[in-house]
Amino acid sequence: MQRIYFDNAATTALDAQVLDAMMPYMTEKFGNPSSIYSYGRETKMAIENARKSVAKIVHANPGEIFFTSGGTESSNTAIHAAVRDLGCTRIISSSIEHHATLHTVEYLHKTKQAKLEYVNLTTNGHIDLQHLDALLAHSSEKTLVTLMHANNEIGNLLDLNAVGELCRKYNAIFHCDMVQTIGHYPINLHDIYIHFASSAGHKFHGPKGVGILYVNEEIKIQPMLNGGSQERNMRAGTENLYGIVGYAKALEIATEGYEQDSQYIQGLKNYMIEKLRTTFSDILLNGDAEGNSLYTVLNIGFPLTDKSDMVLFNLDMAGICVSGGSACSSGANSISHVIQALYPQNAASIVPIRFSFSKQNTKEEIDIVVDKLKIMI
Ligand SMILES: Cc1ncc(COP(=O)(O)O)c(C=O)c1O
Repeated sequence: MQRIYFDNAATTALDAQVLDAMMPYMTEKFGNPSSIYSYGRETKMAIENARKSVAKIVHANPGEIFFTSGGTESSNTAIHAAVRDLGCTRIISSSIEHHATLHTVEYLHKTKQAKLEYVNLTTNGHIDLQHLDALLAHSSEKTLVTLMHANNEIGNLLDLNAVGELCRKYNAIFHCDMVQTIGHYPINLHDIYIHFASSAGHKFHGPKGVGILYVNEEIKIQPMLNGGSQERNMRAGTENLYGIVGYAKALEIATEGYEQDSQYIQGLKNYMIEKLRTTFSDILLNGDAEGNSLYTVLNIGFPLTDKSDMVLFNLDMAGICVSGGSACSSGANSISHVIQALYPQNAASIVPIRFSFSKQNTKEEIDIVVDKLKIMI
């Protein structure tokens, strides 16, 4: 059975060229980057070249890029560091953040390390910037603002510059979860008022288990892990050498192909919206799908019927990979916290399905999926 993979916001297939770039570091180039002899020097060089390449692409200095195990570690590190090392006693976030953020801020709140306030959402799931301004204005406590650039479930995009400028105005620390956007958009970190940014390689055809944390050089934080002197004493432990090489290669490929790939994928998303609209009369586009929205993600609300419970299962049986919520909370019966926040009154009457595309998908696949949905909904 042919499998159709429409869950690229959960993870993407590793690019063959990325694997080729990684392979030597999984085989003959195995030296520990901390070793001083040639085997070590060549792998150390690979890491530093990867760092330089990544820094150039996101417009940061190499010293501002730290390799981590992915988005979760990067966001945890940034948020904890803002409270522990930068004096933030208050956090402003939103109820639709990824759990990597949400559970971290909730933990800091529960353990009384920081106050926590949620910024309001507009009706289509954007951050209410006027409310953010009001929240920032209303207290002089040092505040961390942690908001995601693109929502992984509904695709809504944040106005990064506007949030950065509000943080500048109120002297707040700004962390942004860019896990769904680094590798999907040109990003210029030096143009934004921002202190921390998180990213993960597996969202743009890189390997899993590797990401970056951008830390603006104007701020100083304590080590994320204590031990050896890797990552300039900030994150101890022998580096994920081939992961780092793969991350950088995947970002290079994504950057080179951006114009063409983003247009192509946006075309797929538009085509699916059109097809679904002509096939179903009563669907909802969850979030701002046709407005300020990530081109890879389309979240559709189907009406609740007696077949709804089985839709994801039936799609799976037909070889179609989609998600009901985010991958981390895709238990078929749990209503996603994002859908819950979007429809506080009636989330239970909506059956959300997230279709997320990559350059490897085709319109023919969309035709097949919509035909199957016709029978299953
Ligand atoms: C927006 C967002 N943030 C954070 C993460 C966590 O990234 P990772 O699984 O690489 O730790 C994900 C991945 O699901 C995500 O989509």
